[in-house]
Amino acid sequence: MIRLKGVSKRYRGASTFAVQDLDLEVRPGEIFGFLGPNGAGKTTTIKMIVGLLKPDRGQVSVNGHDLAMDPIAAKHSMGFVPDKPDLYPRLTGLEYLNLIGDVYGVDGPTRTRRLDHYLDMFQLGAVVGDLIQSYSRGMQQKLALTSALLHAPALFILDEPMVGLDPKSSHLFKEIMREHVKQGNTVFFSTHVLEVAEQLCNRVGIINQGKLIACGSMEELRRSPGHAGSSLEKLFLELTDEGGFYEE
Ligand SMILES: Nc1ncnc2c1ncn2[C@@H]1O[C@H](COP(=O)(O)OP(=O)(O)O)[C@@H](O)[C@H]1O
Ligand SMILES: [Mg+2]
Repeated sequence: MIRLKGVSKRYRGASTFAVQDLDLEVRPGEIFGFLGPNGAGKTTTIKMIVGLLKPDRGQVSVNGHDLAMDPIAAKHSMGFVPDKPDLYPRLTGLEYLNLIGDVYGVDGPTRTRRLDHYLDMFQLGAVVGDLIQSYSRGMQQKLALTSALLHAPALFILDEPMVGLDPKSSHLFKEIMREHVKQGNTVFFSTHVLEVAEQLCNRVGIINQGKLIACGSMEELRRSPGHAGSSLEKLFLELTDEGGFYEE
């Protein structure tokens, strides 16, 4: 569960806000897609949710924990896969996973069970003893995903997870997101791949130039005035295309 209230962020030296007055609620048990063109503010928002970036204004709370007041409890309740996972190249995959397991206090039997499940699913078993620097980008993403789920977080956050994945891996990522919400957890991911959002999400939010310009289920967005029957792609283009939507 995520709650953002009036969240704003302007980077040092920038004349405009990267994220401005953002209000957003992501409910337990849903897959929420965060959509927007390049530079819209998706990564900035995600960094504020996971506690990597401090908002200039506003409040962020995750699973009932305020990020500013109780950052450890908030961070403990989520798992995060960044857009470019920054792993330790000189550790083996297994060393890295055990490091993360230690940080989050995952006990031995639970760790083994979960690792068996994900390593098998991703076919990483054969390379988990190799140095991370020898992994392809896709393998690194799968390792990052496995490490983010090792403590079975109530909230799972992914920034542009489908970029650079082959079709089989992206299918697996989708399966894992579905599996995670089935167990009562919440998934929040950003993407500019609209088909993925359309297939997967219970609700989506569209951000453009730092502002949330639409939010709801596909059904609700399609019913919004002026967009009757639009596909997500058409809706997205109408909403994010400067002028186009507002001109008529
Ligand atoms: N570290 C940074 N320093 C300065 N400006 C940044 C930084 N990161 C992002 N920005 C700017 O903030 C805006 C939002 O970027 P970002 O959140 O990365 O968008 P998205 O993830 O939707 O592509 C863009 O204008 C981008 O240039
Ligand atoms: Mg981004």
